[in-house]
Amino acid sequence: MDILDIMKSRHAVRQYLDKEIEEDKKSAINKLVEEENSLSGLHIQALFGEPKAFDTFSAHYGKFNNVKNYLALVGKKNDEEKAGYYGEKIVLSLQEMGLNSCWVALTYGKGKTPIKKEKGEKLLCVIAFGYGAAQGISHHSKPVADVLSLDGDKPDYLDRGVEAALLAPTAVNQQKFVINSKDGKVTISNKGFGFYQNIDLGIVKCHFEMATGVKVND
Ligand SMILES: Cc1cc2nc3c(=O)[nH]c(=O)nc-3n(C[C@H](O)[C@H](O)[C@H](O)COP(=O)(O)O)c2cc1C
Repeated sequence: MDILDIMKSRHAVRQYLDKEIEEDKKSAINKLVEEENSLSGLHIQALFGEPKAFDTFSAHYGKFNNVKNYLALVGKKNDEEKAGYYGEKIVLSLQEMGLNSCWVALTYGKGKTPIKKEKGEKLLCVIAFGYGAAQGISHHSKPVADVLSLDGDKPDYLDRGVEAALLAPTAVNQQKFVINSKDGKVTISNKGFGFYQNIDLGIVKCHFEMATGVKVND
């Protein structure tokens, strides 16, 4: 399946069916987590059948229901962009496996997660996942002109990259980023101030790179 179609079919899903994830999928997810950890140096952990983190007032207030599986994105405090990038790679693989997901920074019980943290590590964010009660709906997107700054000729991959970036989940759907294309070189940066913007930035870079095969410059 084209990665852009996978991105189009992914939406935040907060309510889940009471359906256990099959053992072969659990092993595939654990393998992915291991691979992404060795590439990134993060300490991402997949928790299956663990209801406590989402059985809290804030989780219910945030409309989460029946969340029993989640990825805990653990790393150093300045690893937020990395967590966004590598976490979203896993999100897109989950979507391809027929599983739904939702990034969650706030509306869960942070203190209730039975995760392992090494010295200097913290829990940066989590991603709820499982079989959704529904598939979710498309988010409202900013116009391309709000997120693109083009200087010089437009590279042929740019439209696809911008489309993928606008399909990326961002905290409170803020989409506070700008894609700069100058003489065929792409950079993506934060625009203004927002919540969890560095995690968003990693997610957006992941979408751009996966859809175009073009590396975003630092
Ligand atoms: C870094 C980050 C943190 C988020 N934190 C929360 C959260 O605490 N609670 C929640 O309900 N949704 C949270 N979300 C989900 C966003 O609200 C959702 O992704 C956004 O509205 C875009 O919708 P979409 O995922 O359907 O494209 C978060 C998303 C991101 C990327």
